[in-house]
Amino acid sequence: MNAPDFYETERALSEYLLFHYGTPTQILPWPFGPATALEYPARCVSECIDTARLPAPARALDLGCAVGRSTFELARHCSEIIGIDYSHRFIEVARQLQQQGSISYAYAEEGILTTPATALVPAGIDRHRVKFEQGDAQALRADLGMFDVVLMANLVDRLREPRRCLDSLPALVRSGGQLILTTPCTWLEDYTARPQWLGGFEENGRPVRTLETLQAVLEPHFTLDRALDLPFLIREHARKFQWSVALATTWIRR
Ligand SMILES: C[S@@+](CC[C@H](N)C(=O)[O-])C[C@H]1O[C@@H](n2cnc3c(N)ncnc32)[C@H](O)[C@@H]1O
Repeated sequence: MNAPDFYETERALSEYLLFHYGTPTQILPWPFGPATALEYPARCVSECIDTARLPAPARALDLGCAVGRSTFELARHCSEIIGIDYSHRFIEVARQLQQQGSISYAYAEEGILTTPATALVPAGIDRHRVKFEQGDAQALRADLGMFDVVLMANLVDRLREPRRCLDSLPALVRSGGQLILTTPCTWLEDYTARPQWLGGFEENGRPVRTLETLQAVLEPHFTLDRALDLPFLIREHARKFQWSVALATTWIRR
């Protein structure tokens, strides 16, 4: 299996439904552990969006939306939100959540033992504001229009050509609009050939970090507003977790 195909698998679907919609005790069934890393897809919006800058009505785009939790969270602040992901399976399930508000699934306990669960779009979110479509963040359809908020959560280090995606952003974000970009900077050749990495290597004997490349590429068009560290927790099974710390940056379109 190619690494990018992971996002079409049942395992990825189950892990991401739990990551996006699981309750704290479903995700972390221990009285200890990194509880501050829970609710990441919601925090990517609540901790990063600048509501004072939003016009009314506001349009938002969630690139690499997976099964859509951040897309729904954007509906608390914006009147029209498009979620785009390359995974057909994720988009199929995100659409079911949009239409029905819930979906049944099972998450891993140990080996092939699972626990049944229901993913629920939180009450109070207007699902009619949200649309999901399958697409490639490196080759978006030309008629998407412009947005007041573009969110890219944990996407950039999963792209074959991250710069191609970054280069499309100035045309997507309205003047004064917000770009929220989070990344754990997990550069892997399985997803991104080494010459395309934005950081995590040496050049001319000097370490290159993702943040400085983002600044070099984005600053001609955007002003860096904030940089913060956002922990997140993905449960693989009851006794195995990925604890990561994303670099979250927020940018204002000049
Ligand atoms: C690490 S996950 C992050 C998902 C979600 N934003 C989150 O924070 O939970 C990366 C997502 O990017 C999607 N993806 C990978 N390549 C893509 C591409 N070229 N265009 C759009 N989405 C892509 C994957 O299918 C997956 O849903």
